[in-house]
Amino acid sequence: MSGLDTSSPLPKYHQLKEILRGMIEREDLQRGEIIPPERELCEEYGISRMTARQAIVELVNEGILYREQGRGTFVAGEKVKQEAERLASFTEDMAGRGHETTSSVLDAESVEAGPVVARLLGIEETEKVVRIRRVRHADGEPMALETSHLLHEVAEGLLRLDLSSRSIYDELRTGGLSIAWAEQSYEATVINELEAEHLGISTGSPALLIERVTHDDRDLAFEYVKSTYRGDRYRITTTLRP
Ligand code: GLP
Repeated sequence: MSGLDTSSPLPKYHQLKEILRGMIEREDLQRGEIIPPERELCEEYGISRMTARQAIVELVNEGILYREQGRGTFVAGEKVKQEAERLASFTEDMAGRGHETTSSVLDAESVEAGPVVARLLGIEETEKVVRIRRVRHADGEPMALETSHLLHEVAEGLLRLDLSSRSIYDELRTGGLSIAWAEQSYEATVINELEAEHLGISTGSPALLIERVTHDDRDLAFEYVKSTYRGDRYRITTTLRP
């Protein structure tokens, strides 16, 4: 390990963060490995407990480290990447990255569209839609909380299926729907209490809010989905060309 640079204008906690980050990049500290305890870092780098803690807290908030109560702080796995250009289902997206999808279905029912969903799907507010709320897991780990609103005539059959191990897109395609294009938005958000409970992270953690309105090949909007993805597990990549 190299020491801290006392002549540097960078605060000590920041320097320690960069040292730890470097160790992870070089794989001196590997995924899932426990990092040295605060006490050891203090001795090694001649810093205070507070400085070591601040560096660790920030790396935890960035999703690079994670804490386990009573056990210590560990190096997190790589973030799951989502390519922004492809119209993929969660299941396809995860499969492409070698992860298996499962879902916990919180509820699946017919509800009145209401003003927001009605406007987005181009229907009357009092019309029924199928609303499905699922916690999406990748390899058993909660990744996102997803609320889908689907046109009743398209998705009614989903209410009779066990959706915990099925893809909605696969089922809709099997039913003859041709999923063609979607408009999607991304926004920074923080986890609320309900999401915290289902995603296994604390309230106020950073998250990514993704909203999608999906159309079929006749340009009919058939779904509006709001998904909250864990900020510590997701990264979106795009390819930009001039
Ligand atoms: C993604 C999209 C949602 C879509 C879902 C379908 O998560 N953001 O808009 O409804 O995939 O996923 P699946 O087919 O795995 O149920």
